[in-house]
Amino acid sequence: MKVSILGAGKLGTALARLSVAAGHETLIYARPKPLLDIILSSLVPEAQLVDFESALKADIVIVALPRTALPNFDFSAAHGLVVDATNPWESAGTAGTEFELPGVQVPVVRTLNHIAYDDLTSDSRVLNPHALPRAVAVIDAGQGDKALETACELVSSLGFDVVLMPESAAHLFEPDSPAFGAFLTKEQMEELRSK
Ligand SMILES: NC(=O)c1ccc[n+]([C@@H]2O[C@H](COP(=O)([O-])OP(=O)(O)OC[C@H]3O[C@@H](n4cnc5c(N)ncnc54)[C@H](OP(=O)(O)O)[C@@H]3O)[C@@H](O)[C@H]2O)c1
Repeated sequence: MKVSILGAGKLGTALARLSVAAGHETLIYARPKPLLDIILSSLVPEAQLVDFESALKADIVIVALPRTALPNFDFSAAHGLVVDATNPWESAGTAGTEFELPGVQVPVVRTLNHIAYDDLTSDSRVLNPHALPRAVAVIDAGQGDKALETACELVSSLGFDVVLMPESAAHLFEPDSPAFGAFLTKEQMEELRSK
């Protein structure tokens, strides 16, 4: 798959490392800044830095930007699946900010938002084959079978077990909630779902 990551901060670069390790063609969009090329080429040399329009052409576009940045972009050219990995997060100054992607016309699936970036790299079985199996929630908000299947395939390819959770459980995976940042096995997460 061709996977784009929007944002080259802590989450974006961690996801890019996993995506490359999973064998996906990996693109990163980040706003220009001094030394960006050098930083990225040392952190994820196999990923390609692209402009925003090129990033939207991927099969999967993962949003790893602060929510406050999103209204500045036009997502109408996205044609694959969009993954929302963002959070309303007090420590990031984005508490209470709604997730809003102007112009988006493709399904958006929320996942990969509840694991800290350093846990993503340490607990991925793609990067660390001996890591204990850790589950990641994919929120089923009625986006349709194909979109959810693609999101689950992505998460699994990045080295995690996947659990589909209903939209009513999405709050459990947000900052200051019980499952946010918690190491949960697939069984433990399924138990949460059944409560
Ligand atoms: N950190 C985690 O462990 C983690 C885990 C799960 C979810 N998340 C979510 O992931 C998102 C990113 O978090 P992060 O921790 O990776 O933040 P970060 O390290 O601060 O990185 C943010 C990235 O977004 C870029 N950015 C910020 N404002 C922008 C704007 N107006 N236009 C274009 N690019 C902009 C930054 O570019 P510059 O470098 O040029 O500022 C940087 O590449 C947030 O929504 C957060 O809630 C984070």
